[in-house]
Amino acid sequence: MDRIKNVRKAVIPVAGNGTRFLPATKAMPKEMLTIVDRPVVQYAVDEALQAGIEHIVFVTSRNKSAIEDHFDDTPELISSLHRAGKTVQVSELERILPKAGSMSFTRQQAPLGLGHAVWCARDVVGDEPFALLLPDMVCHGARGCMAGLVDLYNDVGGNVVGVEECDPEETSKYGIVGQGATVARGFAVTKMVEKPRPSEAPSNFYLNGRYILQPEIFDILARQERGAGNEIQLTDGMLRLSETQSFHAQPYEGRTFDCGSKQGFIEANVAFALARADIGNLVYDSLRNLVLSHEATVKAA
Ligand code: G1P
Repeated sequence: MDRIKNVRKAVIPVAGNGTRFLPATKAMPKEMLTIVDRPVVQYAVDEALQAGIEHIVFVTSRNKSAIEDHFDDTPELISSLHRAGKTVQVSELERILPKAGSMSFTRQQAPLGLGHAVWCARDVVGDEPFALLLPDMVCHGARGCMAGLVDLYNDVGGNVVGVEECDPEETSKYGIVGQGATVARGFAVTKMVEKPRPSEAPSNFYLNGRYILQPEIFDILARQERGAGNEIQLTDGMLRLSETQSFHAQPYEGRTFDCGSKQGFIEANVAFALARADIGNLVYDSLRNLVLSHEATVKAA
């Protein structure tokens, strides 16, 4: 086998318009909605850095400049926080500041689908394997999903995807893969279908928005026809790539919240808040009281 090339770059598509969260997203990118006190997009960036990624390529669109600003330096703010003795806030701002030159921003000019958004990153990624993280899908666990995918990739090479099990009735919300032989801490992918009806789904393992892909995907996406939802689908491109290259999947040990839906976004906020050392206990008490009083109201009605 050829030497396995390191995964150095990650693509994070942030071009979607967030219709499901209007009016919150009227003047603000959906990726800047907060989970506890960090924007959604920060979780994907932290997960990529934890996996050893050195450079992040954002695929943006119009009205997304707040994301670029979020990852810039803020010297005036940091000086005023220093003067006010707010050292905790200063260290968090310093922690999230990327190394100079380690982020690129490119635009998807029209909303033609995820496959097209990924294709828009081709020049910045170049001829090397890359990680892809869909920021709406927020991973919660002892370790980020991407770090596990990089481990599997370093064993098996080729292409690697993150998966989780969904309710078999909900396969039409996601890309679904077929499960083949067990390999290392994952399995060989036998099939990939975008948003199949339950009766047509090869399993209930859904693509959880974490991928390591070889650069040959770009040429395929350049020629990819529109698929489900009349969009250029990444899953269709991956299926084509799987005719000549291997695909392995790794079930994520933690849990992924679909923050593109209101329910998933609220669940993520609760899960991350409960896990926080500073506010976890307080949030637990408040939630318990809220649930108890809600149940009492429902019973009395
Ligand atoms: C995309 C992918 C799908 C994947 C999902 C995860 O769908 O096409 O395969 O399961 O992300 O969120 P979308 O959510 O853009 O419809």
